Amino acid sequence: MSKLNTVIFDLDGVLVNTDVFHFEAWKELADRLGVPFSAEQADRCRGVSRMQSLEIVLERSERTYTLAEKEAFAAEKNANYRSRLETMTPDDVPSEVLETLAELRRRGCRLALASGSKNAGLILERTGLGRMLDAVADGTMITRSKPDPEVFLTAAKLLGAEPCECAAVDDAEAGVQSARAAGMLAVAIAGAAKSGLGDMNIASVKELLQLFE
Ligand code: BG6
Ligand code: MG
Repeated sequence: MSKLNTVIFDLDGVLVNTDVFHFEAWKELADRLGVPFSAEQADRCRGVSRMQSLEIVLERSERTYTLAEKEAFAAEKNANYRSRLETMTPDDVPSEVLETLAELRRRGCRLALASGSKNAGLILERTGLGRMLDAVADGTMITRSKPDPEVFLTAAKLLGAEPCECAAVDDAEAGVQSARAAGMLAVAIAGAAKSGLGDMNIASVKELLQLFE
């Protein structure tokens, strides 16, 4: 394996806690439709696309919906989610994330984002995180969502990095699968780490520093 010199981060649930906003916005839609929606279902929405998430939200519905209705539901949820994102400020980035990104960069590491979200640009702008990254690949640039490797490979390509030079960090099962399929060191964090899904399983982004000592 070549020497690691690049870290590619997922966004929601790794650099910022927007996963809570996703849950709240889906829950409001589910409540309006009278469909039960559990924390376990919300967990399965992590990392997968907006429309795939909607299918999970609707799986306990007693009726079926047309594609046009589903597109309207996804738009309703997204408007709700974006209004929550508009409240974000740089203070919403955990200090350990800021410190780790700065220290990784100080150690000569290239940093990129690989998010399936079409709202990543708004989050990076509101939080100021965009300034700390060398490249951004997001949901507006890909045709296949995680667990497909496309978004991690797109981020690596933007940097001119080989997959074997990259560690890819994700909190979702689909994301860890995507990282591994990309041929990168798959680093699981949060829920995915608790389930031991990664090549490396970490409780805090700070633990990434041990890869670049
Ligand atoms: C991922 C989230 O980052 O983005 C998923 O983990 C979400 O839960 C996906 O469905 C798509 O997000 P968006 O912002 O494009 O609806
Ligand atoms: Mg995530």
